[in-house]
Amino acid sequence: MAKLIDGKAIAAAVRAEVAEETAALKKQGITPGLAVILVGDDPASRIYVNNKKKACEGAGLYSEEITLPANVSEEELLKTVEELNRRPDIHGILCQLPLPKPLSDRTVIAAIAPEKDVDAFHATNVGHIMIGDHTFLPCTPAGVMELLARSGVEVEGKQCVVVGRSNIVGKPMAMLLLGQNGTVTVCHSRTKNLKEICRTADILVAAVGKAKLITGDMVKPGAAVIDVGMNRDENGKLCGDVDFESVEPVAGYITPVPGGVGPMTIAMLLKNTMTAVKMQHKLI
Ligand code: GUN
Repeated sequence: MAKLIDGKAIAAAVRAEVAEETAALKKQGITPGLAVILVGDDPASRIYVNNKKKACEGAGLYSEEITLPANVSEEELLKTVEELNRRPDIHGILCQLPLPKPLSDRTVIAAIAPEKDVDAFHATNVGHIMIGDHTFLPCTPAGVMELLARSGVEVEGKQCVVVGRSNIVGKPMAMLLLGQNGTVTVCHSRTKNLKEICRTADILVAAVGKAKLITGDMVKPGAAVIDVGMNRDENGKLCGDVDFESVEPVAGYITPVPGGVGPMTIAMLLKNTMTAVKMQHKLI
């Protein structure tokens, strides 16, 4: 039976650390500020934004939501970003993705000042991650690394398999595992022998967005299995990319969905906002 990695508890510990740092900064007259831009009324994005705001308030940060209609022009959206770039009370900026069409995620990300890009999506920050010289780490992969570290799962020398190659999770995940001296393989939709490759993994990270893709026969006994997926199963129930029922008896460690990686993403966003405020006030 696998050890359950409790993302809720680990995220609460990270948030408590941020709250402590925030209190110390406030004593120096500095309140960390995060701006969250929400374009349109996608219900999933609305929930994510609400959760981000709630987490900020819980840790004592200032959060400001900027809601724009789905038909906002690119010019107007970029103007909003530029105003936030200039505001000294706003240390972090994130624009909830995906943006409604025809707006381009890439154009908006490029407009965010790299030193306020707490998602670490800007090409400058992605480049820093590639060369191992980062300030911000992308929240979800950073959350996975934190889960592994706080669960005592060593990465060095381990066979790591990442299933998924998105810019938000798969690619940076591979870089972070490599940065900790893992031996990393990245699989994707065109990978031919997915099962065999997954079975080599000491650490298996599933981030493809396909409900229950990873089954028990694809997992090496004792492996740490991290599920980044957030899907609905055939009955409309929330589930990950990992078939928990068949994998749990085989794995050594496993994250549940919900309550695994999800809560960590927001905790790491708060951590990045702390990094941003400290950098902007030349405290690091
Ligand atoms: N949409 C899905 N995940 C994310 C994320 O981590 N940040 C932003 N800004 N949008 C997202």
